[in-house]
Amino acid sequence: MKSWNWKCGIAVSRVAYGCGDLGANWDPTPILEEHYQRAAKALEAALEAGINFFDHADIYTYGKSETIFGRFLADHPGLRERITLQSKCGIRAAGDSDPSAPVRMDFSRQHILTTVEGSLRRLGVERLDVLLLHRPDLLMEPQEVAEAFDALSSRGQVRFFGLSNHTPAQTALLRDTVRQPLIVNQIELSLLATGLLDGQIPGTKIAPVPPGAAGTLEDARLHGMALQAWSPLARGHVLGDDRAREVHGPRAVALGKVLREIASTRGVSREALALAWVLRHPAGIQPIIGSMNPERIKDICGAAEIELSREEWYRLYVAGRGENMG
Ligand SMILES: NC(=O)c1ccc[n+]([C@@H]2O[C@H](COP(=O)([O-])OP(=O)(O)OC[C@H]3O[C@@H](n4cnc5c(N)ncnc54)[C@H](OP(=O)(O)O)[C@@H]3O)[C@@H](O)[C@H]2O)c1
Repeated sequence: MKSWNWKCGIAVSRVAYGCGDLGANWDPTPILEEHYQRAAKALEAALEAGINFFDHADIYTYGKSETIFGRFLADHPGLRERITLQSKCGIRAAGDSDPSAPVRMDFSRQHILTTVEGSLRRLGVERLDVLLLHRPDLLMEPQEVAEAFDALSSRGQVRFFGLSNHTPAQTALLRDTVRQPLIVNQIELSLLATGLLDGQIPGTKIAPVPPGAAGTLEDARLHGMALQAWSPLARGHVLGDDRAREVHGPRAVALGKVLREIASTRGVSREALALAWVLRHPAGIQPIIGSMNPERIKDICGAAEIELSREEWYRLYVAGRGENMG
């Protein structure tokens, strides 16, 4: 698979693998051998397809995804040096440390440091290549984040830092305070989640972007920040099946039809085509796929070889957003 060179100097595969579901269940039940075997098959397929970038978060399946990945690394000597390992911190589960606590964000210095210690222990590594702040913490104090990043940098526990789901203003606030460059913003983008593109063209009747998020892609490009897209296939809903219709309405069905037509003309799968739509954006957005199905993973990665025309890209975009631009 082709790779991109990020401004910070790392070469990343154009498609990344998201480890969100590796631990099977989002509950405190123990990891079973069958969970590990299923995860290992998915990871082997991702590596075979040329993926060298793996995305984690401390919260994924309550730490079990990182634990499973740690065992996979231990079972594959030499692999750690060949991949880029990213994790995230900042989301705390309901009931974490206090039974009445809701799901919340926590960018306090202490929480960031403690979380990274936990991720390193579960992954069995000495250093993360990239650490992201998972979702904006409304009580964030930039100076505390800066102190945490300094400590993690000087201890050699994290090489690069970045953000996820942050608006341009939130990014600017942090950029102004932390001493390390913020190298990436991980955002939601798929043919059924086009909010960051919609409304960016004055004079058309397009739905507005989410509050505060206007210019997220442009801000990243202007500052040499890489972009990553989470849920790039909207958990399979881009194909427009019955479940997708229930969740997204008629536009999912219309999108499914256009995907089928273009995929059949080009002789590629609909999944690969939907991923190629993300890859076609000139910002060089790295999609993070989450399938656990080895055959599907290899097929989807074929997207890296598909170059969509401007007309195909807009046809898919208009179908997915469910509204003409004229
Ligand atoms: N930063 C954030 O806030 C955030 C939020 C969410 C996710 N993420 C990251 O993004 C990664 C990927 O997210 P995602 O899993 O939602 O991505 P995705 O690639 O859009 O969806 C994959 C999921 O959809 C299912 N699916 C059903 N039909 C499918 C089809 N025809 N083709 C492909 N998949 C199909 C897959 O099942 P099978 O296993 O059966 O293929 C899998 O459960 C996560 O692992 C995580 O690393 C980040």
